[in-house]
Amino acid sequence: MSDVTATKPAPAAKGMAGMVISDSSISFVDGAAGILEYRGHDIRQLAEHSSFEEVAYLLWNGHLPTAAELEEMRMESRSCRPLPGEIVTILRQLPNDASPTAVMRSSISILAHYDPESEDNSPAANRRKACRLLGQIAAVLAHFERIRNGHYPIEQRADLDHAANFLWMLNGAEPDPMAAKALDQYLLLLADHEFNASTFAARVTASTDSDLHSAITSAMGTLKGPLHGAAVQEAMVQFLEIGESSNVEPWFIKGKTTGRRVMGIGHRVYKVRDPRAEPLVHNLEMLVNATGERQWFDIARRLEEIAKEDPYFRDRNLSANVDFYSAPLLYSLGIPVDTFTCMFAMSRIVGWTAHVFEQMADNRLIRPQSNYVGPHDLPWVPIEERG
Ligand code: ACO
Repeated sequence: MSDVTATKPAPAAKGMAGMVISDSSISFVDGAAGILEYRGHDIRQLAEHSSFEEVAYLLWNGHLPTAAELEEMRMESRSCRPLPGEIVTILRQLPNDASPTAVMRSSISILAHYDPESEDNSPAANRRKACRLLGQIAAVLAHFERIRNGHYPIEQRADLDHAANFLWMLNGAEPDPMAAKALDQYLLLLADHEFNASTFAARVTASTDSDLHSAITSAMGTLKGPLHGAAVQEAMVQFLEIGESSNVEPWFIKGKTTGRRVMGIGHRVYKVRDPRAEPLVHNLEMLVNATGERQWFDIARRLEEIAKEDPYFRDRNLSANVDFYSAPLLYSLGIPVDTFTCMFAMSRIVGWTAHVFEQMADNRLIRPQSNYVGPHDLPWVPIEERG
């Protein structure tokens, strides 16, 4: 009998929980204290004073931009927003009932064929490709949403920032400044979160010396799952199912008897309320005060209160994560529920690409090992004798 396990290190905790994979200077998370920093800047301070475009510059370049640097980046990113015509043709050919998340995943991969620098892994080319992808995936989502509803895609407006331009391309109407600001803040808050599953997937792909589009395609496929990027959609589905504030408690009690997870609650790293929840609540409150449509906000508030008081949730340190209030915020902005994961990607693309830059700048192939638990030294049995 061979003793192949003897030389292997002890296996990591299930799901790599608590493992530190490598150094990174992009974002810092303290799950016990509820702190998130991008490049040393506290997320709450950035949410109060900054914009998504400024944060994209910060994550890509390591420092907040000067006015001239920000202007230069704005000019560059706005000039590369339009989609190649071939992509729009492909979007028209996709089934209308295709999952928007899958459409975005496929589109990122196809965009590589139309990118003049797709196989160039130099830092300068990667930076330009990231800038193109940032604008292009927003256009993919807005165009697909219009096409599947029988409308013509709407061209971008170079005079609008990323969030306002997306609302313009989606609705074809002048974006409401409060809505555009709330969306900008949402995009800022989700732009990076250290080694989450999708970012890790991007880094694994980048570590093979593959290309940026492949790494971002891996990330998008990983974001699609309901334990990660699709939780925001599931959270809204659950709020819609609850329907009104008075139903929250019976819904919660029933869910406990069936073992159903509350979407938007719990986090692998945060053992307290997610630091992004408060700025989201602030924006959501502004929106609902302006529109008078409080229903989804009130349901979320009540559900969070009940979960906070519940011994099962308290004992496991289960608190609201970023998706919990993202869901009613996006819903209040009129964004279709099945595109919420794509909204997440529209933001996280900045973090994903920053992590690919970092991985490629000091690369070593990411290749862990498994703890094999199957049999060894089995006898060979000819096929006709098996059964
Ligand atoms: N509702 C009810 N119980 C929960 C929840 C929840 N949302 N989350 C975790 N638990 C329970 C588990 O049943 C488990 O209980 P046990 O100790 O009795 O077995 C315990 O808490 C630990 O759960 P794990 O799944 O082991 O925790 P893990 O760190 O692996 O999972 C995760 C974290 C996936 C986020 C989990 O909390 C979850 O499923 N939440 C709902 C989905 C969600 O909101 N995902 C978005 C995460 S944030 C993001 O990706 C942007």
